[in-house]
Amino acid sequence: MRKLAAGNWKMNGTAADLVQVQALITAHPAPGCDVLLCPPVSLLSRMADLAAGSAVQVGGQDCHPQGSGAHTGDISAQMLLDAGAHHVILGHSERRADHGETDALVRAKAQAALAAGLCAIVCVGELESQRDAGQTLAVIGAQLAASLPDAVPDAANLVIAYEPVWAIGTGRTPTLTEVGEVHAFIRAAIIARYGEAAQAMRLLYGGSVKPSNAAEIFAVPHVDGALVGGASLTAADFGAIVAAL
Ligand code: G3P
Repeated sequence: MRKLAAGNWKMNGTAADLVQVQALITAHPAPGCDVLLCPPVSLLSRMADLAAGSAVQVGGQDCHPQGSGAHTGDISAQMLLDAGAHHVILGHSERRADHGETDALVRAKAQAALAAGLCAIVCVGELESQRDAGQTLAVIGAQLAASLPDAVPDAANLVIAYEPVWAIGTGRTPTLTEVGEVHAFIRAAIIARYGEAAQAMRLLYGGSVKPSNAAEIFAVPHVDGALVGGASLTAADFGAIVAAL
């Protein structure tokens, strides 16, 4: 399957940073993988306009489970689509921690995203204390069971990102064996849940992916791409990761 290099800008970037997107498009006009950038919502529509006609797609970082209404500060999946998004990241550990998002809420958001026609990127990952206690697979299994949507009519519209919380922004990563173990576990879990169609769902690794470690991580079985934070902010670093896929 074609791999996916997804960048999560988190709460970073203003209009001046769109030069990085133009530089990425110019340097990688025909990448060998799908390329996605998820900026803050303030930049979404401008980035979508800039990337129109290029290989770069854009996405949101969250959505509300409902389509519209009295929810100050929130944005719906339909609004993201209207702004030019193809994807939305859901259940990132920073949203789970900062906003108390539960698995049930993430599941509701994922269902809203699919219903709106977006590709949902659902994030799961263990805390360091849970890994140290040997609970990683149990934690991931429980998150998958409760966070994923009931039905996925098109396997291309569900992506799962494995992001060990302790590896995000720390420069630390699991060993390649550990990444492979979790990705194989996720693949088996989604096949059990959705059937053989789940072979076509992309599984991303996220957490301190950099140009220097991208190629070895991408070579791990069942790693179908990456969800990149800090290294997605510049065309130089993200372009190098795109080139490694
Ligand atoms: O969603 C991507 C992210 O959490 C990983 O961040 O900065 O470790 O690549 P970073």
